[in-house]
Amino acid sequence: MAASSNSVGGEIDVVVTRRDVEADGIISLELRDAGGGPLPAFTAGSHIDVMVTADLTRQYSLMNDPAETDRYVIGVLREPNSRGGSAAVHDHFLVGRHATISTPRNHFPLTEGAGRTILLAGGIGVTPMLAMAHRLTALGADFALHYCARTKTRAAFLDLIDASAFAARAHIHFDDGAPEQYFSAERDLSPIDDAHLYVCGPGGFMDFVIGGAKALGWPHDNIHLEYFSNTIVEDGNRAFTVRLARSGRELTIPADKSIANVLKENGVAVPVACEEGICGACLTGVISGLPHHRDVFMTDEEHEANKEMTLCCSRAKGDLLVLDI
Ligand code: FES
Repeated sequence: MAASSNSVGGEIDVVVTRRDVEADGIISLELRDAGGGPLPAFTAGSHIDVMVTADLTRQYSLMNDPAETDRYVIGVLREPNSRGGSAAVHDHFLVGRHATISTPRNHFPLTEGAGRTILLAGGIGVTPMLAMAHRLTALGADFALHYCARTKTRAAFLDLIDASAFAARAHIHFDDGAPEQYFSAERDLSPIDDAHLYVCGPGGFMDFVIGGAKALGWPHDNIHLEYFSNTIVEDGNRAFTVRLARSGRELTIPADKSIANVLKENGVAVPVACEEGICGACLTGVISGLPHHRDVFMTDEEHEANKEMTLCCSRAKGDLLVLDI
């Protein structure tokens, strides 16, 4: 696959070539290479970073068929508590707008060759599942897509699913629908056998589904997760000190600021994107001290190892953290 003619150092200049309102508060954007060339290939489950403003980057999953090489399609929910990212995309990313994006990266890869695959999406979490459904269809794989949404007006891409080659494998569950169409872990996540389960959605939905899957005996390794939001409770924050091991510099992190923000204010560059512990951009090595992990990017095992932490949202359990910076 040829690289984009307009891809420099992992960044690509693109132009918005199509924009559709897909449901209440949800738009889709079609992005093409600004120079008219092909785009770098991507695998199902990939996302791109979109530079929304000079200092605001947001991640969006690619939802179109990974076999397509001429466009990326993303779905964007206007977050009710937007810190500026999704609102700016909704307000300013119109057809003809140029933007810089990263090349695709995949933290949510599909295990191809599974005996059966269950794709389970909550709300806007359906976007990576659509790319996965395209790929599984191309592979001739056995799979089902379960899509949970609050109401029909808030469920995006229903027409796309209806018109797709995987329409017969899709099951839509509305919170305000009849009880018999509600998602049921017992019914929809059985049998387990050698199936793989992919779950994407907001935190509460993920907790509900993971609890149901574990109660049914799903093996940990067969459950694959991608969070779309992270609920961070700021109550009880306290101040602590961070020492930067490479310079010996010490900085106080007050209760109302993140480590990443204090580092930035003091001229220490830390890559930050989602700012809520989802993407892993700010992952940093921990030399000593115990982090209070609040991200959903790392696994439980990685949290217990305490070798790395996310600086955008995680804090310290003690008074001092020594970071590998
Ligand atoms: S910026 Fe995304 S995890 Fe910290």
